[in-house]
Amino acid sequence: MKLTRLLDQRPTTRRDVLFVAAGTTITCLGAGALSHTVNKIDLRASLGWFDTVTVDLTGISPGSTLRVKWGQRPVLVRRRFTHEILSEQAVNPEELLDKYARNPELEKNALATDSNRVKKGHEQWLVVTGLCTHMGCSLTADYKEQVGGWSCPCHGARYDVSGRVRSGPAPQNLEIPPYRFVSDTLIELG
Ligand code: FES
Repeated sequence: MKLTRLLDQRPTTRRDVLFVAAGTTITCLGAGALSHTVNKIDLRASLGWFDTVTVDLTGISPGSTLRVKWGQRPVLVRRRFTHEILSEQAVNPEELLDKYARNPELEKNALATDSNRVKKGHEQWLVVTGLCTHMGCSLTADYKEQVGGWSCPCHGARYDVSGRVRSGPAPQNLEIPPYRFVSDTLIELG
């Protein structure tokens, strides 16, 4: 089992997030209290790949992002503040660089409204693939100015907390992986 620890620093809080690389049962540490286990991720292998990943959302505080590896892909699980949700809901998708939702559960021409990027009734959670849609760089840093979300370390594309590209060379919004809520505190990827 290989783990790489990512440290997420913010002006007022400091959180530790573990990046899940592989394994069968992974423990994530959060909220700056390393002695407190807050998340457990159970990975189930099938056909030689980790096709399903169950993510425990317990302990992810608002404004925090949990990074999970699903198959070969990093997935960002972000708990959003209420003001972030309201701000993203107010965005007119027609004014975006990519106006389409890129949600495999919706029609291809579904617009990138915030509601089309998250699960109804679970709007505080954003689940997106953490790979830039320009050339596939891994999004590792939060982008805290103006739109929030993430910036790409390679060529500077920026994504908001709905995973929609807001500037830079990226052509599309972040991909939404297949996932479902097993309960209010558990999601299943894949
Ligand atoms: S790979 Fe992200 S902006 Fe180029």
